[in-house]
Amino acid sequence: MDLKEYYESDNRDHMANYATGHYLERNTRQAEMISKHHFSSVIELGGSEGGLCGIVASQNPGIRYHITDLTDAAVSYYKTKFGNSENVTYSKLDADADHIDWGKYDAFFCNSLEHFKHDLRLIKQIPKGTLVSICLPNFQCVGHYRTFSCTDDIIDRYGDHIDFIEMEMVSVPPTRFTWLKNAFVKSFVFDIVNWCMFHMCGGTVAPMVTRRKWICVGRKR
Ligand SMILES: C[S@@+](CC[C@H](N)C(=O)[O-])C[C@H]1O[C@@H](n2cnc3c(N)ncnc32)[C@H](O)[C@@H]1O
Repeated sequence: MDLKEYYESDNRDHMANYATGHYLERNTRQAEMISKHHFSSVIELGGSEGGLCGIVASQNPGIRYHITDLTDAAVSYYKTKFGNSENVTYSKLDADADHIDWGKYDAFFCNSLEHFKHDLRLIKQIPKGTLVSICLPNFQCVGHYRTFSCTDDIIDRYGDHIDFIEMEMVSVPPTRFTWLKNAFVKSFVFDIVNWCMFHMCGGTVAPMVTRRKWICVGRKR
């Protein structure tokens, strides 16, 4: 099975999962961080379940939001989820290969950048001044071309192109193990172990319970 086939089947099986639990909290927080800034027309790449799109588009009825993903499964999910929306449009788009008409947008959101082989080529194309929000992981997973152990790693890779305004760490236990996280989430012991593993390993070791992502907001330089 190649990566594209994997994403098709994974999206078909798990599409709704990324819009619930910790991912819902992440999307809600990211929308809050984004809402401090002015924008009127967004493109989102690798939009997966459309969780961020759903929140941002409903909180800002005056904006236009174009959400895209590589897979037919995601696009047909968008049809169901956003088919009646006034301000959301959607299309299939391969971020590593397809042309993007950047002139139509003043904001770029992406929570799947680690899945794109040519992330830097893409970021360099974004027009200066564009509002950028990305969310990047510290853990390896199918399809991740890169991971980040701390915010300095993110600045090292993208800082020449993005002027970061805000970066915030969130925890995102794997969606498939949500039951396990739910069993432990209120446990003091779990929190201590989690904290120690993360800090003692400098965020470089990411076992199941210490998955982290950084929500980043900035402007294209
Ligand atoms: C596992 S999800 C990302 C995690 C999740 N959306 C989140 O909110 O953190 C990865 C998504 O990226 C998409 N994707 C992977 N490669 C892509 C590409 N080259 N262009 C566009 N989307 C891509 C996949 O189809 C999938 O929907």
